Amino acid sequence: MTKLAIIGGTGLTSLDDINITRKEVVQSPFGHPSGILQTGELFGTEVLFLPRHGASHTIPPHKVNYRANLWVLKHAGVDTIIAVNAVGGIDSDLEAGQIVIPDQIIDYTTSRTNTFFEEGLKEVVHVDFTEPYCADLREKIISVCAEQSLRFKDKGTYAATEGPRLESAQEINRLERDGCNIVGMTGMPEAGLARELDICYACIAVVANQAAGRSDEKITMDMIANNLNDGIKTVRKVLSKVIPTI
Ligand code: HPA
Repeated sequence: MTKLAIIGGTGLTSLDDINITRKEVVQSPFGHPSGILQTGELFGTEVLFLPRHGASHTIPPHKVNYRANLWVLKHAGVDTIIAVNAVGGIDSDLEAGQIVIPDQIIDYTTSRTNTFFEEGLKEVVHVDFTEPYCADLREKIISVCAEQSLRFKDKGTYAATEGPRLESAQEINRLERDGCNIVGMTGMPEAGLARELDICYACIAVVANQAAGRSDEKITMDMIANNLNDGIKTVRKVLSKVIPTI
């Protein structure tokens, strides 16, 4: 049977409708995960939940212990993850609050431990990452978005930047030339680690702002929080419909 986890990003540090049955402080060989692992029933299905930035949103993207998070979920028997990530929109037609189900990712991060396969190996390991996201899970999410007539994009390339600062306008121009449509700070190494653990992993990206240089407005934390409010409502709606299908 499938065991599903949700990794909540900025704007989603808790799940409203979850009926929590267990809260566990779990340790990993890689240190502490971002918070207590919650198990509960959500829309009739058992789901695990982990807030990526901690329960009080205090862990910045470059300090998230991605390996610990993925390890504790795998250890709990999770084989499927829906990750929710706030992003900036690079494409001019992306509006704040809109959601994107990316199909590709480019890793621009610089300081993160990005693999489980580095010590005590009998042999070097390279995992296939041609399609970085789980096709079946993406399809399920996309079907729900289409059925609900939501404002969404069914594909896109996610640029994973190091942060925590936002990008310069010229950095965004470069990402666009590279073929990126959205930019965020948490997509990697999370997706790569999930693949190393053979977990089916898909991302619901929520546009929190237009990327640097794409609007005259200064990007502020307030702006991001306000715009995410709407987007996260959409995410909750998608989760309510997609979870029972998993
Ligand atoms: N850039 C990087 N990460 C982000 C952004 C952005 O503009 N908005 C939300 N997360």
